[in-house]
Amino acid sequence: MHRWQPELGLIQETLLLTLYARALDATQPSPILGDTLSADLADKIDYDFPRLKVKPNLIATTALRAKKLDDVVRAYTTAHPGCVVLDLGCGLDTRMSRCDPPPSVDWYDIDFPEVVNLRSECLPGPSHLVGADLTTSGWLAAIPGDRPAMIVAEGLLPFMPGDSFQTMTRELAGHFPSGELALNGYTRFAAWAMKYHPTIKALGIKAAQGFDDPREPESWGAGLELIEEQILTRAPEVDRFPQPLRALTRLTARSTALSRQGARILRYRF
Ligand SMILES: C[S@@+](CC[C@H](N)C(=O)[O-])C[C@H]1O[C@@H](n2cnc3c(N)ncnc32)[C@H](O)[C@@H]1O
Repeated sequence: MHRWQPELGLIQETLLLTLYARALDATQPSPILGDTLSADLADKIDYDFPRLKVKPNLIATTALRAKKLDDVVRAYTTAHPGCVVLDLGCGLDTRMSRCDPPPSVDWYDIDFPEVVNLRSECLPGPSHLVGADLTTSGWLAAIPGDRPAMIVAEGLLPFMPGDSFQTMTRELAGHFPSGELALNGYTRFAAWAMKYHPTIKALGIKAAQGFDDPREPESWGAGLELIEEQILTRAPEVDRFPQPLRALTRLTARSTALSRQGARILRYRF
């Protein structure tokens, strides 16, 4: 079997972490996301995955946040079959195949050029690929601006330096007539603490971006309005977490402040 040897920078390499977490979820007796395509893809990549030291918590929360973001995307594409979907910092995520949008939807997978090149080789699909550094402007010119947009950004926020995520959000909201932005939120503490996470430490990344108040993006000048904050420690899928993670997560669920330090999904309309 041919195996791909990815040559990626440190930030780009984080895509292998989320891919591997989804692949491991698919092999669990009771998977949360059950993304067997990710499992097949990880098998085809020649990479020392065990060095990432992926723990049960990361497997469960990565699968759960992906599942919840998929639900958001599916609901939007069903309600707006003429929309475009933008997966920002898509990595090697198989989201389009999981969401299976109506054929009238145009789906754009966007990441650094070396990532979309790798993607076009090992995960060919019907999405439009845009190779761009999201901290720069100009890349939106490749995407039609006259249709509603579902924008999803999973695992991206902490890696965007300074206020580049805010700037990008303003440009996105200005480009489309209307839309929704969905992301997994990181508090400032969670983003700061990421650099002590064994996996992020193994990659040598100093991730930093986050915000505490889910309403903070409403002040970014992008016309965002918070429509939902999902606290994932309270999701029914926690029943499928292995022990002792399940018990610990249920305990954490009692405190909103503590739960916000973990996985949560934020949705904004513009
Ligand atoms: C943690 S990975 C998540 C990948 C994917 N969303 C997933 O859930 O599997 C972060 C992704 O963001 C991308 N990324 C980070 N900073 C970026 C930037 N400035 N421009 C484009 N992509 C970026 C990385 O290349 C990587 O693919």
